[in-house]
Amino acid sequence: MQEKKNYYITTPIYYPSDNLHIGHAYTTVAADCMARFKRMQGYDVFYLTGTDEHGQKVERAAREKGKEPIQHVDEIVANIRKLWDLMLISNTDFIRTTEERHEKLVQKIFQKVYDQGDIFISDYQGWYCNPCETYFTERQLVDGKCPDCGREVELLKEESYFFNMAKYAPRLLEYIEANPEFIQPESRRNEVVSFIKGGLEDLCVSRTTFSWGVPVPFNKKHVVYVWFDALINYLTGIGYLEDEEQFNKYWPADVHLMAKDIIRFHAIIWPIMLMALDLPLPKKVCAHGWIMLEGGKMSKSKGNVVDPNILVQKYGVDAVRYYLLKELTFGQDGLYSEEMLATRINADLANDLGNLISRTVAMIIKYFGGVIPETREGAPLDEEMQASAGQAYAEATEKLEKLDFSAYLIATSRLVSRANKYIDETAPWLLAKDDSQKGRLAAVMYNLLECIRIALILTAPTMPTLMERANKQLGLWAQPEEVEWEDAGIWGMTKNGTQVAKGESLFPRIDLKALREDEPMKEIKEVEMPAPEDKSTPEKLVVEDEYISIEDFAKIDLRVAEVISCEKMEKADKLLILRVKLGDEERTVVSGIAKHYAPEDLVGKKVVLVANLKPTKLRGVMSHGMILAASDDQYVDALTVTKDIASGNRVK
Ligand code: ME8
Repeated sequence: MQEKKNYYITTPIYYPSDNLHIGHAYTTVAADCMARFKRMQGYDVFYLTGTDEHGQKVERAAREKGKEPIQHVDEIVANIRKLWDLMLISNTDFIRTTEERHEKLVQKIFQKVYDQGDIFISDYQGWYCNPCETYFTERQLVDGKCPDCGREVELLKEESYFFNMAKYAPRLLEYIEANPEFIQPESRRNEVVSFIKGGLEDLCVSRTTFSWGVPVPFNKKHVVYVWFDALINYLTGIGYLEDEEQFNKYWPADVHLMAKDIIRFHAIIWPIMLMALDLPLPKKVCAHGWIMLEGGKMSKSKGNVVDPNILVQKYGVDAVRYYLLKELTFGQDGLYSEEMLATRINADLANDLGNLISRTVAMIIKYFGGVIPETREGAPLDEEMQASAGQAYAEATEKLEKLDFSAYLIATSRLVSRANKYIDETAPWLLAKDDSQKGRLAAVMYNLLECIRIALILTAPTMPTLMERANKQLGLWAQPEEVEWEDAGIWGMTKNGTQVAKGESLFPRIDLKALREDEPMKEIKEVEMPAPEDKSTPEKLVVEDEYISIEDFAKIDLRVAEVISCEKMEKADKLLILRVKLGDEERTVVSGIAKHYAPEDLVGKKVVLVANLKPTKLRGVMSHGMILAASDDQYVDALTVTKDIASGNRVK
């Protein structure tokens, strides 16, 4: 028997100073998607997540609540575990840095690195803020004051242990050069390289100003610096120095996933610690962007937290996971709003995927009593459809391998759109009227079912319950949990005699109107949302290319919208109020084209609407989208669709 390949993926271990928010959920869902993808590919996967419980930050949060640190973290950790259960996170283990297995290992490692002379004792000198109980470097100060509270700081000296990082810097640079895949994306790699080239200082790896940490084994006055302690979790989790067989099986890690705030800890300090331990380096350290909230930059004091518990209860786990992974373009920051979430669910899941499944099921029942006949008549168009499925599989696989989650889901959405278009092209309702076309109709239904089967496999790592829920209607698999990723790359696996049955809607549409009226953010618990801190001092801004990627463009949801009524806005000579239809949704749009169009000119026209533009009030009327128009000094010409393309279809 061939031995299984192994795959080890980790998330950061989160600070349990407070409950987690959608930013943390994003990383954990993304790593979960990879873990599920790799399991479907036949890998033996170890997926590790957990909590980083020591340090001043957590200690202070506990004391502020009048609790002992351990009591405080126990409570938060219980909530975190519940959240991951709710979000169907399939982690293999959950590591807490307060566990004995971890503390023992941190001490062993500290001792070893000290014994070999890479850790030494010296005086630490820094700018100390008394109220914050924190040291800052000169560079971190803002106008010579504490960057956190703005108060005076004083230059203090204390005895500390230091880790000689500079010794390993040339080896690390060599490694980064020889392994271009090591730090992802590329912009982060450049940032890390220039930081190392700027010269690495000795890292202070112990503290004496607080006690909530792992004691330095040979000098109990000191506790181990929280990052030195935390990074070791990636070794504890798979049994370093405890379970040699398991450790050798999974180390080096395939991916450490995180956001860009902590890339330097993972791409500089961690590899150097591993070099000091003579261990191989992780294969990939990958940093995604930040989820930001609308209304500008998040700040510690004024921000909101979006609680993933509430979103999952409201919209379902599949939909929330799908939204998170689709929305954030790889490596870049992305904006969160509940309206965007609902719009994405309606567009991609209810309108496109959900509709494709329900239409196909309904047609197979209507035309063939639920079982597609075995005699089928192909046509050239089918080959194109089949090629699109092959392309979606290849692209989804390639993008997932690169952890480019949004591009992977764009590839799967493309297949779903292609299948919906195939229905319009083949017009099964016309074929059904002609008895001689029965074989052709059967082939069309079979091809649709194949596309659905493939789309469901490709989206399974993102939406863990969908395949099973859909299977109740589609009857495609005896054991959906045993389906392999490669099955999506094979055309024609749907067996003859597959029986489909009507079922409930897989993705009920969200009433956007009601959502808007509810003022969505109010329903979501508003708590402090810490701005994702840049935990290292930025060197310089990375100048990004000014081109936008196709994925950026795909964020703009352009739709065919049919104007069903139109009127002039009173006392506003430039504005028209249009009522437009997008599939089965209707909405109001205010447009500044009244000088160029009489209302009756537009009724019945199919215009192009930016459907996911943030709604805005114009002269007291809410406008839900924007109509595209070309213009010069003389004319304004609203773009229209002239062929018989149904409203709601995408423009791209
Ligand atoms: O840094 N958008 O823990 P932490 C996207 N304990 N991701 C976000 C986010 C946002 N707005 N906010 C948080 C720590 N994250 C250390 C890690 S690892 C050895 C120690 C995610 O609780 C993202 O993955 O501050 C980020 O890197 C991590 O949470 C920071 O979590």
